Amino acid sequence: VPKQRLLVVANRLPVSAIRKSEDSWALEISVGGLVSALLGINEFEARWIGWAGVNVPDEIGQRSLTEALAEKRCIPVFLDEEIVHQYYNGYCNNILWPLFHYLGLPQEDRLATTRSFQSQFAAYKEANQMFADVVNEHYRDGDVVWCHDYHLMFLPKCLKEHNNKMKVGWFLHTPFPSSEIHRTLPSRSELLRSVLAADLVGTLKDLQYYELECQRVHSYSGAQGTPDGVEDQGKLTRVAAAFPIGIDSERFVRALELPQVKDHIKELKERFAGRKVMLGVDRLDMIKGIPQKILAFEKFLEENPIWRDKVVLVQIAVPTRTDVPEYQKLSSQVHEIVGRINGRFGSLTADRSLDFHALCALYAVTDVALVTSLRDGMNLVSYEFVACQASKKGVLILSEFAGAAQSLGAGAILVNPWNVTEVAASIGYALTMPADEREKRHRHNFTHVTTHTSQEWAETFVSELNDTVVEAQLRT
Ligand code: UDP
Ligand code: G6P
Repeated sequence: VPKQRLLVVANRLPVSAIRKSEDSWALEISVGGLVSALLGINEFEARWIGWAGVNVPDEIGQRSLTEALAEKRCIPVFLDEEIVHQYYNGYCNNILWPLFHYLGLPQEDRLATTRSFQSQFAAYKEANQMFADVVNEHYRDGDVVWCHDYHLMFLPKCLKEHNNKMKVGWFLHTPFPSSEIHRTLPSRSELLRSVLAADLVGTLKDLQYYELECQRVHSYSGAQGTPDGVEDQGKLTRVAAAFPIGIDSERFVRALELPQVKDHIKELKERFAGRKVMLGVDRLDMIKGIPQKILAFEKFLEENPIWRDKVVLVQIAVPTRTDVPEYQKLSSQVHEIVGRINGRFGSLTADRSLDFHALCALYAVTDVALVTSLRDGMNLVSYEFVACQASKKGVLILSEFAGAAQSLGAGAILVNPWNVTEVAASIGYALTMPADEREKRHRHNFTHVTTHTSQEWAETFVSELNDTVVEAQLRT
């Protein structure tokens, strides 16, 4: 049986390009949970459509990059600088991202009438249409088109307007906020309605909010909630039960067996000899609660002087969305706190991005992982840590506001990241936890992570999408 053809459409391609000369390119794996989850899927004949993270204004560049990406089964969407500024930095990451994570709208954009909001929204729609054009160019009858995340909420509508027969699914990788937050978004109803053009809509969690919001926002025009989804102007969109995402756990388990990873583990053990290792791995994003985490660590050291030379916190903070002012502010804030704490205790290292093998080695030598997201879709870092801990059986301290709290809650120590005192106390508890309790907690989490994989997630979504389309055909 030939594999089902799948077009995965996401703003971010799994590889990002760096220009080496007029016509040569280096490709690096992109950082982020969406890419990590989708890299693991192999049941499909998949092609990716998305942005390679660079501006390529010239034809030679566009042609050579298209060729380089084709080897990775990737198809580029070329966005010029102005679009990136308005759509990616502006509407996606200054408006939708903070709003979907309960941080609210930036003050200066609160009025729909402000020029910046309107031009950013216009650019968002324009960018979505550019993605649609590339999909249309590569689409073949029978393909499944799977759109991802908050960048592409207009895409289902653009695709269906062009070809009503296309099988279109859309999946949200972030939380969906409750109505009290969502309703502040000036373009809320246009966005929701565009998503409803898809055949199947999936979220990680917060599904009830999504459904209620569709009904509430559209009630004036007769959109209705039914047991199967949301009906709007005679068209039913299946809004499916939440699909919990996962990781390709095998890939991590295998990596730990590689000689270079084993060597790296040995090096790290020597470097940290005599100390317990605590680890944070995050994009440098305000949703990750990095200042809160570091302040909790400081408080722990203040209150427990005997631990000062016996523990180190390694914080990987990957620069991200660096042209958005809020991210620039966060970056200087974090550097300031890290500098201060290192001046006092010298037990914190804040590093930059790591490649896959280095990351696996670090996960494996860690005693306590600290995930303090203020809000987070799932947080795959917590899954990856668990997958790499078969021998060490370390402790996971996990924010109750990360999606993973629902699946790894029984094995982790759950904390409210805003409560610095509680997090500091949990650090003490984790560092001294008896081996049998650690093992029990680890076993629970390891079983979950290795049985709820990204492969399973993708297969369930795509087969449900196929079923939905068949059912819809039977109805007409
Ligand atoms: N990651 C990486 N290199 C790094 C730091 C992180 O490849 O130096 C990856 C990490 O392995 C994980 C992803 O980035 O797969 C982060 O995903 P998560 O769901 O935790 O958060 P997101 O970044 O999507 O908000
Ligand atoms: C989160 C989002 C993804 C995004 C990733 C990295 O995981 O859900 O859509 O790709 O962060 O962010 P970036 O802006 O670099 O693509």
